[in-house]
This record gives sequence, C-alpha cells and structure tokens, in this order.
Amino acid sequence: MYWLGLDIGTSGSRALLVDSKGHVRFAQTAPHHEMTMARPLWAEQDPADWWQASKAAIQAVLHQARIDGSSVTGVGLSGQMHGLVILDEQDNVIRPSLIWCDQRSQAQVDFINSTVGKQKVLEYTANPVLTGFTLPKLLWVRDHEPQNYARVRKMLLPKDYVRFRLTGEFATEVSDASGTSLFDVVNRRWSAGMANALGIDTAILPKAYESSEVTGAVSTAAAAVTGLKAGTPVVGGGGDQAASAIGNGIVSAGNVSCTVGTSGVVFAYLGEPAYDPAGRVHTFCHAVPGAWHVMGVTQSAGLSFQWFRNRLAPGAEYDDLTAEAILAPAGAQGLFWLPYLMGERTPHLDPVARAAWVGLTAKHNRADYIRSILEGVCYSQRDCLELIEGMGAPVTLARLSGGGATSPFWHQLFADIFRKRVVTLETKEGSAYGAALLALVGTGEYSSVAELCGTAIQEASAKTPDEASADFYERSYRVFRSIYPALKPINQAIAELGGEG
Ligand code: XUL
Repeated sequence: MYWLGLDIGTSGSRALLVDSKGHVRFAQTAPHHEMTMARPLWAEQDPADWWQASKAAIQAVLHQARIDGSSVTGVGLSGQMHGLVILDEQDNVIRPSLIWCDQRSQAQVDFINSTVGKQKVLEYTANPVLTGFTLPKLLWVRDHEPQNYARVRKMLLPKDYVRFRLTGEFATEVSDASGTSLFDVVNRRWSAGMANALGIDTAILPKAYESSEVTGAVSTAAAAVTGLKAGTPVVGGGGDQAASAIGNGIVSAGNVSCTVGTSGVVFAYLGEPAYDPAGRVHTFCHAVPGAWHVMGVTQSAGLSFQWFRNRLAPGAEYDDLTAEAILAPAGAQGLFWLPYLMGERTPHLDPVARAAWVGLTAKHNRADYIRSILEGVCYSQRDCLELIEGMGAPVTLARLSGGGATSPFWHQLFADIFRKRVVTLETKEGSAYGAALLALVGTGEYSSVAELCGTAIQEASAKTPDEASADFYERSYRVFRSIYPALKPINQAIAELGGEG
C-alpha cells in the first residue's frame, strides 16, 4: 500500500508516493505556468492551473508506480502559503489568486493596523500583518474590485482549493491558516476578534483541522479525473514550510531546517508560542498537534537563481550554471547579490526592497554573477538563522532541503556561511514528503508524527564549515548586512516614482 503527498508549489505540483515505512517510492511533478506579474510587485496564478497540474501529477505518479488508486490508502496536501482564492455562490473561482509573494497590499496593511491596532493584531494572530499574508489581499479586492468582493462566499488557501476539487470539502489546517492574519495561532482557531474588527464574515472561512486529521474523502468526480479511488481519506496536511519541516524531521526542539525552494525558509520547532517583538520571523502553528514553529523567510531564494537562468541564461541547466559558479573565487571578487526580487520579509519586512548587485566591475563575468547569487541567498538565510537563535532557540545543526540541497557546492556554502554543521537527508523531498507522512499518521498507520519521523528520516551527508572560508564569509556577511540600509532610501524613492516602476 502507498500514501500520497501532493504539494501545490509555485513552479509546479508534485505528487509523491511513500510506502508504509515512510520511504519515498515514486514522485512526479507537473509544471505550473509562470506567475503573471502585471506590475513589478504583483504576482498571480490561476487556481485552475494548480488543479490541472495536480491531476496530471497524480496520474503520472500512479502510472509510474503501475498501480491504480485502490493501492493508495490516504492523501496529504501541502502547498504554497498565504495565497488568496475566492469562490462565488456556485463555487467558481472569482479572479486569479494573489499568491504569497504578491506585495500590492501595503495600503490594506496600514488600514488593518489603524483599524484593529498593531498590538491587538499581535494579540489576535501572534504576528504582525504583512503584505504577503491573505487578509490584506482580500481587503485589496474589497477596495479595488468591489464587484468581485460582493460575490465572495468562500476564501481558501491554494492547497485547500485543490482539496475542495478533490473532496468537495471546504477545509484547511492550522499551519496554513496561521499565515492568513485571520487565525488565532495561540488557540489554533479562526480569530473572531480579527474578523469582527474588520467586518469579515467568518462564514467564508473553511473549517480548520489539525494537520493529521482527516478532512474529507476523494469524491467520485475527482476519482474519475485523477485515478484515485473514491472514498480515499484526505488529511489536513500543511503549509509548505510546516510540511517540509515534517519531511525534515523538525518535530522537537534543537535542529532547524533550511528549505530552499522558490523562497528560502529557516524553520525551528517551538513547544510554546514565542515571538520576535518586531515580527521579523513568523510564529505559526506547526503541523504537529500542540506545537508551534518560528520561521524566517527569504522571499526570493531559488527564485533568484531561476530569475538569473530564465532572464540571463535561457535554456541553461542549473547544474551547469552551478559548475560555472565554482570557477569564481569565494566572494565572487567582491560582488554582492541582494536577493530582494519580490521585496523582503525576514529581516527587513519591506515590500519595496529591491534586488541589487553591488560591487560590479568590468572584470566580473558570468561565473561571478552566479556565485554571488548563491552566496547572497545564503547570507539572507543567515539573517533568518540569526534572528531565530536570538530568540533563544538552540541550533546545533541545520537540515537542508529543496533545490539548494541537491548541489554539494551550495551545501558547503550554507555550512560555511551559517558556521554550522549542515546535513542533507536521505529524502531530499520537502513538502510533498511531509504531506505524505501526515497522511500516514492521519490514516492511523502511526500514532504520532514524531514516532514516524523517528524511524523514517535518515541523515545522508553532512558538511562542516571550512574554518578559513567561514572566516572569510563572516567578514563578507558583515558587508552584506551593511548594503540594505544604504539602499533603503533609494528603494523608497524608486517606489515613490510611481507609474509602472
Ligand atoms: C512561507 C511562504 C513560502 C510560500 C512559498 O511563509 O510564504 O513558503 O509558501 O513557498
């Protein structure tokens, strides 16, 4: 028998099958269209595209495994967080989703802060409201598209839209709901205080479950188009980061994970909710019942590399580009990359931050550009790590997953720049794997997530900091830290130019 994890990412949907021991057996990805960016800080995707890719990925993985749906005992979902999906009376999608990295809602964030009060927002949701979160996106629709807002009957997160298509149920789970700015993270339920203060009808919100609870079953209609069996239970699953942390075995205090996908996230387990008073890292429910987590987010981690490849080296393979980066010296001859292509969350909380190369000379070449991008992403993830350690979370090592974990060179860079032991796991799969593990627990195969992770998750390779490189990168990191404050007023002035800029 198998358990299916389905991750609705930004660039594609991934379906993965594990066996009863939690070992990955098969995996298939179907791509999404690139997000549309009508303006520089806007980012939208069509939920129909996610469903299309989900169906294709599920069919492909069943085909790869040469099984039919009756061999799948349970399904777990994970997905990109924070995206706004709104449905009308007939359950049709009203407009494309404003996804996690969309930054257009500063006016709505300001409105929420002045209407509810910043302190109350923290009390209600355990986090400040940010432009990337779901609620200000909903209010943006209210302010700019009143005819669309009037039709809203349901609000869903991306993976929960796929859940709706799979099961017909309107449901979410606590880890993803935490990133909406409408969720009472401490008490693990929707925040009536927040909704009432802003006149949001709580009837539009899906039912919130714990991540390993069963939320519904595959419908006959979905069975016909996916190949799954009608009646197969679908568990809550998790926001991509909480799910990925399960896949990385971050189910007790001590270790952190670092997941480099489109975004880059440093994630630590919390037994009790704890906050950074400035809200630079998020405190959300974990996908483990009775636990929370804190995470710092680099908006454009893998996205920096993808942007470089798509715009400046079209058609090139990532492995070849990484091999080129190795030819450049450490520090890329004094070239620094600030990865703020979509504004930045941790540590700047600045939607109008801009990416930059600083230190460019005529001598630099493509190898330096690439190397500086990989290094810049590591520095930015170090910013996240520093804040988490500053909150008192003990960090002995970091577990690396996502695209960044597939390159030994990037793996060593993380070790040198973090000054920590950095390990990869046998299973480098992140979120889809965690979702499948949650399905194993939710269907009663294991009694707890920790029990399953204890047996299923094995370390693969470890890299320790090279002292000389780590010293060099320590000094470089200090330079990196000094660049953003210098550019901040310039970014602000660019934003104030208005127009399409
Ligand atoms: C987490 C976050 C990203 C997205 C896309 O807060 O925004 O992880 O979910 O991966």
